Amino acid sequence: MDFKQYITIVEDYPKEGIRFKDITTLMQDGQAYKKAIEELANFAREKNADVIVGPEARGFVVGCPIAFELEKGFVPVRKKGKLPREVISVDYGLEYGNDSLTIHKDAIQKGQRVVIADDLLATGGTIEATINMVEQLGGEVVGIAFLIELTYLDGRDKLQDYDVYTLTQY
Ligand code: PRP
Repeated sequence: MDFKQYITIVEDYPKEGIRFKDITTLMQDGQAYKKAIEELANFAREKNADVIVGPEARGFVVGCPIAFELEKGFVPVRKKGKLPREVISVDYGLEYGNDSLTIHKDAIQKGQRVVIADDLLATGGTIEATINMVEQLGGEVVGIAFLIELTYLDGRDKLQDYDVYTLTQY
């Protein structure tokens, strides 16, 4: 399936010069959304994932259905102040801005095989922070799955030690 035909490019959003990749039009199409998730779920299955981790918010849209498909658990990574129990956190840089991400301290068990899922690999900052937290908790990151990779931002350079799978590239 050509997933690009379901992704809408929005010029100058959220800032001038940025060509935003809008996945809501892919999600709106039941068959395209299902096919995209199935492909990423197959990758996670081949990696023998014990648990799927996804960063807020679009990482939930991708990670939750993968977890559901594999009958595995899903662990949310959230921006600071959103998780109710004890967390660890990491500061990270975004394509546009800075923030910190958090994960519940008891969310990953030592030695668990973790697949991280998100909609988009841009600079890789979000995923680098997510990997950092998963590894601090003793998880093994066995794969990272994205719908979209922006190759011109070289996010993969930060992820050289990991198996990265992307459905479509710009
Ligand atoms: C976007 C996107 C990825 C991240 C990619 O999320 O969903 O998580 O940025 O950028 P990076 O590779 O440069 O880190 P955003 O933080 O905008 O949050 P949202 O999903 O809640 O909109």
